[in-house]
Parts: sequence; C-alpha cells; structure tokens
Amino acid sequence: MRNVKDDFPILKNRDIVYLDNAATTQKPKSVIEAIKEFYEYHNANIHRGIYPLAREATEMYEGAHERVAKFIGGKMEETVFVRNASEGLNLAAWILKDRIGKGDKIITTMSEHHSNFLPWFKIARMRGARVDVIPTKEDGSIDEEKIIEAIDSRTKIVAVQHASNVTGYITDVKEIARAAHDNGAVIVVDGAQSVPHIPIDVKKLGIDALAFSAHKMLGPTGIGALWMKADLLEEGEPFLEGGDMIKEVHYNSELQVIYNDLPWKYEAGTPNIAGGVGFAAAVDYLERYGMENILPHEQKLAKRIMNGLEEMGVPFVGPRDIKRRGGVVAFSVPGKNPYTVALYLGTKNVCVRAGYHCAQPLHESLGIKGTVRASLYIYNDEEDVEKFLEALEGMP
Ligand code: ALA
Repeated sequence: MRNVKDDFPILKNRDIVYLDNAATTQKPKSVIEAIKEFYEYHNANIHRGIYPLAREATEMYEGAHERVAKFIGGKMEETVFVRNASEGLNLAAWILKDRIGKGDKIITTMSEHHSNFLPWFKIARMRGARVDVIPTKEDGSIDEEKIIEAIDSRTKIVAVQHASNVTGYITDVKEIARAAHDNGAVIVVDGAQSVPHIPIDVKKLGIDALAFSAHKMLGPTGIGALWMKADLLEEGEPFLEGGDMIKEVHYNSELQVIYNDLPWKYEAGTPNIAGGVGFAAAVDYLERYGMENILPHEQKLAKRIMNGLEEMGVPFVGPRDIKRRGGVVAFSVPGKNPYTVALYLGTKNVCVRAGYHCAQPLHESLGIKGTVRASLYIYNDEEDVEKFLEALEGMP
C-alpha cells in the first residue's frame, strides 16, 4: 500500500510524531499546490471583474462551494464560507436569534467546545431566553437520552457537537434531530471534529445546520463552512454587511437594501478565495482516500493507545467502547501536570496538546484539571503510536 505520509511534505521535512490533529491537520502536496497555482495563474477578485481572469477566479471560488457542499450532501446555496467552525457557529446563532423569545430555551451540552457554548449564552442574553446545559455521562460522553428528555415546546434551538475534541465520543445526532423537530426546534451541529473523519450526509442526519473548518481536514487555515437550510438562511439577517452581499442599495432619505442570493448574502467583502480553492483540493484528497476508510483506521490506532495507557495505569476520558469514539484520546498522568507531560513529549518530537482544549466546563464537570490529548488522522501509523507510548513510558 502507498505510504500516505509521502504526500505530506512536513512529515518528511521534520522529524516529528504528529498527534495534534484535533487542533489542526497537516497539508498534502495537492492542497499546497492548488493554492500556489491559484496565485500563480488565476488570482483576481471574484464577483466583480468581467475580464476572463476574474471570471476564472469566480468560477474556481464558486466551484469550491459546490465541492464542499456535495461533500456533506448539501446544496451550494446553503453552504456559506466562513473563517472557521467558530465563526460558523457564531453566525448560526446570529441568524437564528430572532426565533427566540423571552422565556424560550436553548439546549446545549457540558461537552461542547467553547465555540458551541458561548454564542448561545450571548444570544440567550440578548433575547431574555435561557440556556439548559445537559450534563454528560460519567465518562464525559454525551447523554442523548437526557438531551431528548429536556427538549420541550419552549425549546427553540438544540446545539450539539457531532464528535468531541476531548472524549472522542460520536454523538447520535439523528435521534436528537428527530426530537428537536417534533418540538418545533432547530438543531445546529458542531461538525469540526466529525466532518474530517466520518462520511456525512446532512439530509440523512436530518439536521438544520452544520459548522466545520477546512484546516482540520487537510485544508488551509482561515476558511471553513456553515451549511444551513435555505429557509433559515433566507429568514436570517447577515452578521456582516458590505461588498458583494447585496444586489441593490438605494438611499433616498431612507435606506433600501436587497440582499444578494444565497450563499453570497452571508459573505461580505473579498473572501478567502485561495483558501476556498485549497478547501476544495482538501475535499478532493479525502475523497480519493475514501471517507469510509478514515474512522476505522483511527479507531485501530486509538485502541492501541488506550490499551497502552491502561498498561501504564494512565486513565483516559471518554467511552471504553471503541465503536462509540473517534481517534481522540485525552488522558491524565497521575501526579503530573498535563503541560509538563506535553512539554516532555515535545522534547521527544511527539506533538500533543495539553490543557482544557477549549472545553473547560467539560473538564471541570469531570473534576479534571486539564488533560493531555493525542489525536489521530489518516497519515498516522502504528510506528507513530509506538513512538508516542514509548516516549510516555520513558518519562521520568
Ligand atoms: N478546537 C481545536 C482543538 O481542540 C483547536 O484543539
């Protein structure tokens, strides 16, 4: 079998065991080349110039929307490019804010990344609504039953992660979506840690919105997407106003604005055009690799990590059942500060993240002062896992 690592220049240029993929992934040559080629042969602004070069850039940027939308089973007009999943979730909250009235309820969970937590509190504050934070199970896994029980006629929004960046738990989003819709609520899903690893079809999941980042799926930083059902995007208000998001602006003692078609209504100003092109190239790479092959590969390696940690007496969070989780393993070495562990592993060229991983409420609810996190992706192999375990075992 071809060595996937050969496609990633940094993995040849640097002597590293890269296990910080939940933070960001490395980039294959094809993505780096696509961005370079865009600047060397196709660069112009989009939706403005009518000369051939500008039309070419526009087609490439719009084509990137098509590619990304298709990748998650959505439509292009429902796929807004944003800076990252955080911006996508903030935008979703902004768009949905007028659906919430005084005394209404937003449901989220204790396991959320701060990006799928803070925006809902902000919107609730603005509208006089409340946020119900559903506790996790003892191991930090999302408790779908508890979420479903909490959804009632006052619930307007359910905001939940599809996969955790700490426990690795994969949420059964479909059941939650059904319960939300039965009660007239919409469901917003944080897909930052699932879209890169699991084949996704937004229609099959039955959700209303999905946010994700390109850089966690081999693409460049500074670009991501918010997919949202067209009727919600139509009824919502843009978060940013400016160039390219309007069809007409008139001022005759009063302002009259006609917004642009979807998704451009939500993309004010010159966007990250090259980033969009790189995003599409990342999707192409993942499709060639085969989305269905990613999770099984990561689960095999994660299982080995979990066994290795157990042999060393190092506890980890999240479910023990590998079928319920992805390739993220966060652990606490007894008696050691997580930063000390990550610093030590760094001296052995092992890249892992330490701390709260932007999910402090989860850690606090589990009574843990931070974890060390190893997170996997397609280029990791058994050798990486053995090197990591060996380094950890050798820690004084
Ligand atoms: N959200 C990213 C992480 O979990 C940055 O590391």
